Amino acid sequence: MTRLGEPPAPDTLDPAERMSVDELRALQLQRLQWTLRHAYENVPHYRKAFDTAGVHPDDCRELSDLAKFPTTTKADLRDNYPFGLFAVPREQVRRVHASSGTTGRPTVVGYTESDIANWAGLMARSLRAAGVRPGHIVHNAYGYGLFTGGLGAHYGIEALGATTVPISGGMTPRQVQLIRDFAPDAILCTPTYMLTILDELEHQGVDPRSTSLKVGVFGAEPWTEEMRREIEERTGMHAVDIYGLSEVMGPGVSQECVETKDGLHIWEDHFYPEVVDPETGEPVPDGEEGELLFTSLTKEALPIIRYRTRDLTRLLPGTARPAMRRMQKVTGRSDDMIILRGVNLFPTQIEEIVLRTAGLSPHFQLVRHKEGRLDALTVRVEARPDAPAERRAAAAAEVVEAVKQTIGVTVGCEIVDPDTLERSVGKLQRVKDLRDA
Ligand code: DLL
Repeated sequence: MTRLGEPPAPDTLDPAERMSVDELRALQLQRLQWTLRHAYENVPHYRKAFDTAGVHPDDCRELSDLAKFPTTTKADLRDNYPFGLFAVPREQVRRVHASSGTTGRPTVVGYTESDIANWAGLMARSLRAAGVRPGHIVHNAYGYGLFTGGLGAHYGIEALGATTVPISGGMTPRQVQLIRDFAPDAILCTPTYMLTILDELEHQGVDPRSTSLKVGVFGAEPWTEEMRREIEERTGMHAVDIYGLSEVMGPGVSQECVETKDGLHIWEDHFYPEVVDPETGEPVPDGEEGELLFTSLTKEALPIIRYRTRDLTRLLPGTARPAMRRMQKVTGRSDDMIILRGVNLFPTQIEEIVLRTAGLSPHFQLVRHKEGRLDALTVRVEARPDAPAERRAAAAAEVVEAVKQTIGVTVGCEIVDPDTLERSVGKLQRVKDLRDA
């Protein structure tokens, strides 16, 4: 058995992971043509959208022709709530998931039996790339239920041949108890929930470096290299990134390989990525930053064409899986971007600065408020428990100065006592908006 942190043995990879670029492109074109036809013939929304744009599935003769087709947005899923985008009779849908979103109707997604099998296979592939192996024990703390994280990962752990601990999120003291008792090799949760678990380990007097955990597969929210270093140094385990979204499948659309930790390989045999200028929607060349779009290549129940994820990243050439392009760690979502007095700012930029500042913990909030008639932002961050009291004023000044230097805008910074900010149990809401309060 390969040790954690090493690449999987070549004979354990899926055939698609070993394809040449030419083989992969040929497979993608064939699957793309099928998907466009499947969507056009079975989903009134797509028929209408293609007709309005004056394109027909027959117009897709090469992969670059995809750019002629209309994009799909979250609003299209909402407008067709709940099952209007399904391309198969409802009786063939074995499972639905939904994301609540912040306002209005949830977005509903569906899977046929074959979609679920593909998803399980891709999650197993992702976990293998992360360093998980058959026979391992996997503590799955992604939320179970309508969220795709828990069940999506669950099926993948089983498909890989590992042992699932389906604990879901929350009840952190019990999570720690089971980590101590079951001795899992790997843990799956959001990176901010891992911080909550780390705090609880320490509260229970357990040195996080003494647990059995060797790898953490973290995703569902943006996180930075600084956060990776924080988690790896405190735990001694590998921390790798997993990405996905409900509309495209769920977790396991792309995965970072443990041996390279250089961004996430997109499983391109099932998902075709594009990056566009978020303002104009025009495709940008690989390597340039923009908004990520996905077209599903094999999905039966919910084929999705050029879905605008709102996630900002860039496409990079393959490394650990040479034919599959990588996406750089996601900087943030265009709708999480804070525009402060005309300057664009992402929570991940603040995360980098906070984690580079001595005496500050990774627990922080961004509070938007008014100063007179102007919009203001205060970075509220917990001191580390071992930081001397006199460090606080200096740390706050360093954060303000670093934000001014790197982002170009003035913010406030308030250092609060350890253990006073709300803890994450899943996806963390970083921004508190008090402007209307
Ligand atoms: O968060 C699926 C998932 C579950 C991925 C578990 C990874 C692990 P949704 O709830 O539909 O699905 O949210 C999708 O979350 O568009 C991104 O904005 C964000 N996101 C997901 N993974 C990452 C990541 C799941 N690794 C939305 N880095 C996406 C940054 C991520 N953002």
